Amino acid sequence: MAIKPIVKMGDPLLLRVADTIPPEAIGSPELNALIQDLKDTMVAMNGAGIAAPQIGVSKQITIFGGFKSPRYPDAEAVPYTILINPVLTPLDDELVDDWEGCLSVPGMRGVVPRHRRLRYQGLDEQGRSIDRTVTDFHARVVQHECDHLFGVLYPMRIRDMRTFGFIDALGLGDLPDE
Ligand code: NI
Repeated sequence: MAIKPIVKMGDPLLLRVADTIPPEAIGSPELNALIQDLKDTMVAMNGAGIAAPQIGVSKQITIFGGFKSPRYPDAEAVPYTILINPVLTPLDDELVDDWEGCLSVPGMRGVVPRHRRLRYQGLDEQGRSIDRTVTDFHARVVQHECDHLFGVLYPMRIRDMRTFGFIDALGLGDLPDE
């Protein structure tokens, strides 16, 4: 449908808890148009994922995956996923640090702790149940995207702010934004 402008950090919309999507809205032309806008924008921005608040829509839907990253040649493939009204359940207390970037925080990267093992549940674009147990990069992408639905941006989770900076100054390359 359309590539939408990205809402950037500083806009209060990104700090809101997004509204859940009522089951009767799933499959509607309006929601399908939103999904297409999210996909078009993610592809245009070469993102690993995107959440609806990032294109100005405060609803609990995110899409992610379906990409290949040279930075993660051995990472398990993250399947292209449309996730509505997600619920995340960490499987233990183990946290792992890695770099993240965000379409809403352009040009920057930071090291963010995330749960290594995660169960996530929700609905897809046809209202079918999604229930997955994932680890590592897949788990990280889901946590980053779902944070957007609850008003959290990755810089708010950085433990050592000395790791937060501009991509060119940090000497980092091709990590996709989310
Ligand atoms: Ni993001």
